[in-house]
Amino acid sequence: MEFSIKPLVPGRNASGCAAVGIYAGRKPSTAATLLDKATKGYLKRVLERGDMDGRLGATLMLHDVPGIASTRLLLVGLGPKAEFSARAFRRSVAAAIKAIARTGATDAELHFAELTVGRHDIEWRIMQAARAARETIYRFEQMKSKPSEESIALRRVVLATGKGDGKRTARGLAQGLALAHGIGLARDLGNLPGNVCTPAYLADQARQLAKHYRLKVNVLERADMAKLGMNTLLSVAQGSSQPPKLIVLEYRAGPKSQKPVVLVGKGVTFDTGGISLKPAPEMDEMKYDMSGAGSVLGTVKAVAEMKLPVNLIGIIPATENMPGSRATKPGDIVTSMSGQTVEVLNTDAEGRLILCDALTYAERYEPAAVIDIATLTGACVIALGHVVSGLFSNDDALAREVLAAGEFADDSAWHLPLRDEYQEQLRSNFADFANIGGRPAGAITAACFLARFTKKYKWAHLDVAGTAWKSGKNKGSTGRPVPLLTQFLIKRAGKR
Ligand code: BES
Ligand code: MN
Ligand code: ZN
Repeated sequence: MEFSIKPLVPGRNASGCAAVGIYAGRKPSTAATLLDKATKGYLKRVLERGDMDGRLGATLMLHDVPGIASTRLLLVGLGPKAEFSARAFRRSVAAAIKAIARTGATDAELHFAELTVGRHDIEWRIMQAARAARETIYRFEQMKSKPSEESIALRRVVLATGKGDGKRTARGLAQGLALAHGIGLARDLGNLPGNVCTPAYLADQARQLAKHYRLKVNVLERADMAKLGMNTLLSVAQGSSQPPKLIVLEYRAGPKSQKPVVLVGKGVTFDTGGISLKPAPEMDEMKYDMSGAGSVLGTVKAVAEMKLPVNLIGIIPATENMPGSRATKPGDIVTSMSGQTVEVLNTDAEGRLILCDALTYAERYEPAAVIDIATLTGACVIALGHVVSGLFSNDDALAREVLAAGEFADDSAWHLPLRDEYQEQLRSNFADFANIGGRPAGAITAACFLARFTKKYKWAHLDVAGTAWKSGKNKGSTGRPVPLLTQFLIKRAGKR
């Protein structure tokens, strides 16, 4: 599907479908009012009849409406005008695309860019409209033997603008599409099963990105990691026959003197729990345990496609977490790359064990900031559900920057406390500390564990266990937090 922007007067363009918004209480948007004039009050009569009340996401498809050039007219409910949020904006674009995709229309024009969404400008609205449209048509069919029956006729979508919106809308569209491509990659990787999406597969994906966007890529093998003393990472990998990989991607388009932002993504391609085996129900969902890694690859893709002038390093520790005769046992003590010793009291707390060595490895890049992304704890899901990601940081300014990026991108996080008092829960009788801190504040003690490895730089940690994927009937990867991370980098690049 192709997207473009064009200044269009509602009703004048001969497209397969024109979509306009209607607020709750049957209040027409500006575009709808213009259309009503063109149709000499037809629209008003339809609204008065009560078939479109303006509820958010509701749609009404009309055909051969008099006085307008497009063959179809789609009314899309926007909900209450005063509550028209970023989320409502994306939902209404999604509703429009879904409704049009069910018809035979091959092209469509969406008149949504004029809508007021908080204090966001036209560039943001175009960016988010493009993202929402692409997210809506996303399908994961790689693993089906035949392509699905439903074929979509819709080929071209024009995001209608006003006159003279010019250059900023072009940037909005380019950024929206690049973001959507990054989200799409993260979703694909998350949705792929553990027998396909292995550590080696992730490494291949990184190599492909590197080839396509001319990035530097380096994949460390087991022996390389052993040389570096990455024993906590290797202790997780040792139960699996799949070789672990430490994947490093370098995108350098910023000034040479500028220190890079480093993203570190948890890449557990399947988490059985290891010897501390997880219960069987829903264990399939642990294929998403590489979502942090997926979000790093997705963000690198988006940033490279946008050609943002930043320096960005992606580091992905990738491994399976399996039980077996070689697997790490509860009580085993391992020495991390940092030299600190860890008592592995629960082999299911493996994310922190692979991240800590990757975080130590990150030091060599003298980073401006490090952000790690991980489906780290069930406790974070209990605390925050599937709505916001958990954010922890050793630097308040960085935390604020990450939060702001999340708000702007409508991919929010919530700042949780990383206080020293919680560190006591990681006490070990036998090693420097343990890898678990008991039931209370499980998301926080996991972050406290990581904090012991990130003292040399500004660091933020995103626990995306609840936000990176959805369970239930519509289970699947969400691509979060690619929007947040990409926005963070757009802002750092000064491109907004
Ligand atoms: N990958 C899981 C966290 C997780 C759980 C993500 C549920 C998504 C949904 C992680 O490796 C894990 O198993 N964490 C344990 C930690 C515990 C043993 C301290 C958990 O949360 O139960
Ligand atoms: Mn686990
Ligand atoms: Zn895990």
